Amino acid sequence: ASESTTQFCSAGRENGVGSCGVSSTRILIKGGTVVNAHHQELADVYVENGIIVAVQPNIKVGDEVTVLDATGKFVMPGGIDPHTHLAMEFMGTETIDDFFSGQAAALAGGTTMHIDFVIPVNGNLVAGFEAYENKSRESCMDYGFHMAITKWDEGVSRDMEMLVKEKGINSFKFFLAYKGSLMVTDDLLLEGLKRCKSLGALAMVHAENGDAVFEGQKRMIELGITGPEGHALSRPPVLEGEATARAIRLARFINTPLYVVHVMSVDAMDEIAKARKSGQKVIGEPVVSGLILDDHWLWDPDFTIASKYVMSPPIRPVGHGKALQDALSTGILQLVGTDHCTFNSTQKALGLDDFRRIPNGVNGLEERMHLIWDTMVESGQLSATDYVRITSTECARIFNIYPRKGAILAGSDADIIILNPNSSYEISSKSHHSRSDTNVYEGRRGKGKVEVTIAGGRIVWENEELKVVPRSGKYIEMPPFSYLFDGIEKSDANYLSSLRAPVKRVRTEAT
Ligand code: URP
Ligand code: ZN
Ligand code: ZN
Ligand code: ZN
Repeated sequence: ASESTTQFCSAGRENGVGSCGVSSTRILIKGGTVVNAHHQELADVYVENGIIVAVQPNIKVGDEVTVLDATGKFVMPGGIDPHTHLAMEFMGTETIDDFFSGQAAALAGGTTMHIDFVIPVNGNLVAGFEAYENKSRESCMDYGFHMAITKWDEGVSRDMEMLVKEKGINSFKFFLAYKGSLMVTDDLLLEGLKRCKSLGALAMVHAENGDAVFEGQKRMIELGITGPEGHALSRPPVLEGEATARAIRLARFINTPLYVVHVMSVDAMDEIAKARKSGQKVIGEPVVSGLILDDHWLWDPDFTIASKYVMSPPIRPVGHGKALQDALSTGILQLVGTDHCTFNSTQKALGLDDFRRIPNGVNGLEERMHLIWDTMVESGQLSATDYVRITSTECARIFNIYPRKGAILAGSDADIIILNPNSSYEISSKSHHSRSDTNVYEGRRGKGKVEVTIAGGRIVWENEELKVVPRSGKYIEMPPFSYLFDGIEKSDANYLSSLRAPVKRVRTEAT
């Protein structure tokens, strides 16, 4: 679908004017409501050479500046998606969106940065990092990396340090599911949590009990349930709640911050709420699919339809999504990702006879900003400032790149969207920019449309047209010791003093 509306430019960033003739080093956005997480105001925004230079009313400029009229519209930081899988080799195939197509889709939907998960090669982190450097070479927007940890030894521990200190990685993901491939056991998780703490890196978990999922899958197969519904039936919310609680308690034991990815159920959310109430630093990331879809699709009689909703943890029954929305609007959960991990219908058909072989993952990178605005701001659940916080600013803070990213402030990167709250859209695989032939939001209509996306000071989406430049995206290094680590030594001391003192009891010899 991308060819029809995507225009590819060959020029570099040097003079800012691509062969499409669309880019300008100087842009003035006039008359819009500028929304940051902390404040919104009527102001103009002036951009020069990829950086926001001024945010104030009535900025005057010369002729050589591209002027965009944002009257009646919202001018906001571009979205940052904390959770994507582009060009990921997984379950015997590779996601259909690579860095270029996935990013083009993202830009069309108002997301200007994403953080992808590097998967180690046979457990080797450096080999994994190099593989992802290659995969991301053609990037047309800024991106960063998390690193998955899939085995443990001295080399892994050493490489974690090198990646944090030299390669700009400040987060490591531990899969508690996917037994036999990515899953780690508690002993490895404990080693990883200790190492993350010492490096100031954020530990992330995919929280499902992989052993119990394996048992659940066996039960379904024994019952002759081989279709996509077996996916949901084999891994119920209780297994997500268990793993979330376990990871939270182990992070408490080590006393290091924890980030729970793709929170899909009330069971997991309740554990996060309880931990946060007790003062523990736990971040919960719901994803768009979990917020607005429900699991009835997995029972659809058409395999092609049902299988496109297979992701892990599964999309849950009606009720979970609304509860997650409420948790997001009240601050129990902090930011929204997508877990964009797309497989087309041919790839999904790998599991035609056995749901365990359906590649797990759904789309969302292009749809996230639109769907969250429509579902949560249009409905009055969320203010525009909170929308900016959960789609952009909080991600930048957690991964320690704020205010370079996640803000419309003088000195910030010029990653900006103009959203028209009165314009509407309809989502379809026929018009989306992902390479997939399906879309889990097919036919969905909504209000509030991203009319312009500016990434790195370049207008890349305007008038329904994409003008993206391969290799214009930058790898964003993310430094360790985010705000989540502030005061951690003091809280170490408090935690230890709340326990019995670890003092050896000296005993007299028995007579
Ligand atoms: O189904 C999913 N979530 N696929 C991507 C891998 C992961 O677990 O994040
Ligand atoms: Zn996961
Ligand atoms: Zn339904
Ligand atoms: Zn994921």
